[in-house]
Amino acid sequence: MSLYTRIIGTGAFLPEQVLTNQELEVMLDTSDEWIRERTGIRERHIVAEGECCSRLAEVASRRALADADIDPATIDFIVVATTTPDQVFPSAACFLQQRLGIRDCCAFDIVAGCTGFIYALGVVDQFIRTGSIRRALVVGAEILSYIVDWQDRDTAVLFGDGAGAVVVEAGPEPGILSSHLHADGTYTDILQVPGGVGDRKRDPYIEMRGNELFKVAVTTLSDVVEETLRANDMQNSELDWLVPHQANLRILQAVARRLKLPLDRVVVTVDEHANTSSASIPLAFDVAVRDGRIRRGETVLMEAFGGGITWGSVLLVY
Ligand code: UT7
Repeated sequence: MSLYTRIIGTGAFLPEQVLTNQELEVMLDTSDEWIRERTGIRERHIVAEGECCSRLAEVASRRALADADIDPATIDFIVVATTTPDQVFPSAACFLQQRLGIRDCCAFDIVAGCTGFIYALGVVDQFIRTGSIRRALVVGAEILSYIVDWQDRDTAVLFGDGAGAVVVEAGPEPGILSSHLHADGTYTDILQVPGGVGDRKRDPYIEMRGNELFKVAVTTLSDVVEETLRANDMQNSELDWLVPHQANLRILQAVARRLKLPLDRVVVTVDEHANTSSASIPLAFDVAVRDGRIRRGETVLMEAFGGGITWGSVLLVY
């Protein structure tokens, strides 16, 4: 019997404090008009001082566990996709495990830039398909406000904080149909946070060549979307939903155009959440499941692109 990875619960968490474009106008040489026209972003959520990644992950996870109606002790695999863990080590996944009171399961972080959640789902899917594990908690959680240079208008307007989580379980019905994970390390310097462990002289803030990245993103995402459909012998018209990484409304629109998918079939949260990196897809997915748009049995394509560079997709039946 084939085993599939099925999403049985979703959850999300956004910090209470909202930072609007108008507030950024006061802090930086920017305008609400520029930000909305170039990115589609209106506002973002920002954590209070002292917050940490695993706490955001915990709230999103508890909501996903409650939605799945399962005991946390039955989870046998935890993966947290993040670029902003609580500490260098232990992993945010181990801190999350501690917070949830789960003993003795596999727990680790994945660093794949904004593609982290796709990588995490792809990895978990392999363990579930082979029957090695039964239930996993897959989380994307980020506090990007800690690694943004708030003097730099090129990046400060783009990012936000938040967390999203799914509980997945092995089952005979589809399920994740396929995952496609890619990286090209020749582009490590196009989007990066330098400094840190090996180099204490450089500031540990996001550096990005936005315009170049924009072009690479549209090309690689269009390619991976086609690769995914081909691998499943599917036509664009068979897709019910696109849940893309929320970096820029114009990138989402370009991929939707390539798929000939009407925009009302694309889940868009970038206007309210901005770019929350690894958290953006599970956040958007949770929003669209809870507001009743994405329903059981529908086909969902998730895709992302991020620092590394990394890119990838997951096609699933919800
Ligand atoms: O999560 C995955 C990784 N991230 C991405 O995928 C982001 C990809 N890139 C983008 O989304 C876009 O490239 C940006 C939104 C970052 C920038 O949009 P753009 O249309 O590519 O603008 P640009 O970089 O070509 O800059 C246009 C102008 C420049 O001024 P000049 O040189 O034309 O005079 C910038 O200095 O806009 C200026 N600019 C700003 N103006 C007001 C850059 N940032 C701002 C700002 N407010 N915040």
